This record gives sequence, C-alpha cells and structure tokens, in this order.
Amino acid sequence: MKKDLYPPVYYAEYLELNKILNAQNLKSDEYHDHAHDEMLFIIIHQTYELWFKQILFELDDIVRIFSGDFVDEKNLSVALARIKRVTEIQKIMIEQLHVLETMTPLDFLDFRDYLVPASGFQSFQFRLIENKLGLKKEDRLKYNSIDYDNTLKGEHKEQVTSVNVSLFNLVQDWLERIPFIKTDNFDFWQKYREAVDKLLLQDRAIIENNKSLSDEKRKSQLESFERTKESFLSLFDGNYHNSLIEKGEKRLSFKATLSALFINLYRDEPILFTPFQFLTAIVEMDEQFTIWRYRHAIMVHRMIGAKIGTGGSSGQHYLMSTVEKHRVFVDLFNLSTYLIPRSELPSLPDDLLTELGFYYDKIKR
Ligand code: HEM
Repeated sequence: MKKDLYPPVYYAEYLELNKILNAQNLKSDEYHDHAHDEMLFIIIHQTYELWFKQILFELDDIVRIFSGDFVDEKNLSVALARIKRVTEIQKIMIEQLHVLETMTPLDFLDFRDYLVPASGFQSFQFRLIENKLGLKKEDRLKYNSIDYDNTLKGEHKEQVTSVNVSLFNLVQDWLERIPFIKTDNFDFWQKYREAVDKLLLQDRAIIENNKSLSDEKRKSQLESFERTKESFLSLFDGNYHNSLIEKGEKRLSFKATLSALFINLYRDEPILFTPFQFLTAIVEMDEQFTIWRYRHAIMVHRMIGAKIGTGGSSGQHYLMSTVEKHRVFVDLFNLSTYLIPRSELPSLPDDLLTELGFYYDKIKR
C-alpha cells in the first residue's frame, strides 16, 4: 500500500550526492600544481564536519530534554542513549586520524601554503560543540592574543557566540534539583562525615605505625595524608567549596557536587542507576574529547614539527595546552577522590528512598 502513497526514492537524490561528491575542489589544482594528497585532506575534514553535525544534533536533543522543569527516568534514558551515540562517534573520530597519517609531512608540504590562514581553528561546528558542552570563553587559551571567535566569519561568529545554554549548566541544575539528602531523622552528610573520619583515622594510624618507614618518608606520607584530608573539607563546608570555585579550582556548585557524589556512592539503588550511568557517560564523553585533542596534537607534531599552524597559533604547543585546559567536566572526574568502600557507606532509611522516588514522579511532586 505504502508504495502507492509515496513516490519512489532514488538513492543518489535522497542523499544529495551531487552536492557532496562535487564539493572537493583542490586548491593545488586551482593553482595548476596538482597535489595528490589534498583530496584525502579535504575528504577527512569534510567527514569530521559531518560527524560534528551529528554530535550537535544529539547534544541539542539532550539540551532539549534537560531544559524542562525536571527530567523523568524515561527521558534520562533517552539522553543517555544520545550521549552513548556521541561517544561511539568520538571513537571513530580518533581512529580516523590514522587515515590522515598515511599522508607524509612532505606530501602535506605540497599544498600546505595554499591553505593559509584556514585552519581547523575556524571550525565553527567544533566551537559550537565546545560551547554547548560548557567551555567558557574566559577559560579558553588565547593564541597571539586573539579571541577564538575573531577568526570566524560573520554568521559563524554569530552562531558560536550566541550559545547561551550549556550541558554543564543544565546538568548542574538537574543535580541541584535532587531532593536534599536529609530527612527529619537522617542527615546523610553527617553520617558520611563520620564514616570518612573513621577511615582517615585508620589511614593515619597505618602511616604512623609503619615501622619500615624512615622518619623522612613518614613525614612526607603524613603531609600527603593531610592534603587528602583537606580535600574532603570542600564536601563538608559549602563556604570553603565556594572559595575554591572563586579561585577557579572547582566549577560544579556545592549542592550539585554533593548530589553527584551521592549518585555515585549509591548507584546500586535502582532509582539511582540511570542517573549514575548518565554521569558516567558524560565522563566518558569528556574523556574522548580529551583523547581526540591529544591525538590531534600528536598528529600535528608529526606533520609540521615545531612550525606554527596555518591558523597562526604556536601549533603543536598550543594544541597540547588545550588538552588539559579545555576539559569541561573535570569535577565529575574528581568525585572519585571522595569515594569510600561500599562496606563503610551509611545505609539509607526507607523514607529517604521514597523521597528519591518522588524525584522521578511528576504527579507526586
Ligand atoms: C595535516 C593535518 C592537520 C594539521 C597539520 C593540523 C594542524 C592544526 C593546527 C596547527 C591547529 C592550531 C591552530 C592553527 O594555528 O592552525 C589546529 C587546530 C585545529 N584542528 Fe587541525 N590539523 C590537521 C587536521 C585536522 C583535522 C582532520 C581536523 C578535523 C576537523 C582538525 C581540526 C582542528 C580543530 C577543531 C582545531 C582547533 C583546536 C582548538 O583550538 O582547540 N585538524 N590544527
């Protein structure tokens, strides 16, 4: 029946192959200096841009899901599936660099000069991804004192700079909305602090009673123990946590950090399992972007050595610095600092578990 309703579709027309397959115009041919590898160079970049488009498509849908007043479990599962798709694409993006590396640095030199000042630095879709994830302008590395958006043309600059909702902020809001983990007869953080204090005392005793340690070694181990102890302070003291945010040492709010830690600690509770998987998927996605940046920087080093980039940056040096500096969800990685063994976790009272159930249930809220 369907056959009559819908006109037949022709493969090449549906995919608009006439546009895609006629979009490889070699600069080296334009200058009558044919460079064989320029075709690969163009196709690889175009392939990346298509994947960037797909990633943005998924991110936009996650943003849509998280922009409502609350996220129910079904929608959280959809968001999780979207992020998992993104991470699978990212793996291909990393692998794909091997194909580009079949071009040797000398082959690249055959056409490199024709490309100046174009560069992946001007990939507006890559900048959109970064901004939608939550990379802040003030946290970006500058090169040659130029703002990243000043290298983009009008409409692209407009698109990139008008992003005003980020996944980071939406996830933070979502975490902050989790009902506070305190009921009339149970204060989770008090119990957690007692468990942490007990473990820290044990750790200290182990160092102090270890007869195989020299005085110097013991002193150094006790110093590092004090640092660990201090890092827990930010969990129990909101003001201290906020002072770290002001200094730029943390970004995720106090309340959101506590909720994210709670989800990580009690992931075995069925109600928290999907939130846990979602936070884990975000960590995975952030990790894959970091790996891509690193892998791209290494490839660039191999391709142009210590030369500056066609976009005018210090090249490999600039790119390597972004690997660490442009991570967005570092605070979620740092949560592992605060994990304690399951055996030491305070058990949750029934009324709290019921309260967490409300979290998903719109009607009861
Ligand atoms: C021969 C291959 C390549 C070389 C030598 C190269 C080189 C560079 C250099 C030097 C930069 C820093 C900006 C500049 O001064 O130009 C850069 C940035 C960038 N490149 Fe590449 N690249 C290559 C391939 C690719 C490919 C295939 C992609 C995929 C889209 C890509 C995406 C990017 C992106 C997104 C940036 C901005 C990174 C940031 O600012 O964090 N590059 N590239």
